[in-house]
Amino acid sequence: MSILNRLPRLARFSSVLHRENVSRFSTKTEEPAIPVNLLKDTYSANLQTKNGAIYDKKPFKIRLEAGKNYSWCLCGQSKSQPLCDGTHKNIFLKIQLRPIRFNVPETKEYWLCNCKQTSNRPFCDGTHKRPEIQEKVKR
Ligand code: FES
Repeated sequence: MSILNRLPRLARFSSVLHRENVSRFSTKTEEPAIPVNLLKDTYSANLQTKNGAIYDKKPFKIRLEAGKNYSWCLCGQSKSQPLCDGTHKNIFLKIQLRPIRFNVPETKEYWLCNCKQTSNRPFCDGTHKRPEIQEKVKR
């Protein structure tokens, strides 16, 4: 049998191999898990039921370091969003909301909530996509 006669069979064999590889190596990535605040039960500020003013209608990506404590702005008035800059302490603004203290388990980039309406403070949980949030006018 000449090599030319064997070519169709080789081609079929190679296409089977190719199909197996395609099914084994999917390019679809899994949805990343939403992180949780490790200090959630430590500070009473986490028990605040009111949400702050919408600062932005989309989350903010920020690199956070493991072992460091951060304060996430809940009132929405900080000038260094999404973190607290102490604006809530200004007695003339009469802000009753306090920042949320948090830390992260590993050093990497996280999506922090900027709409201040998340149910998983301080991390974005997709609440900003709701029509009532998107239609609200920023203060
Ligand atoms: S920015 Fe607030 S839930 Fe996404």
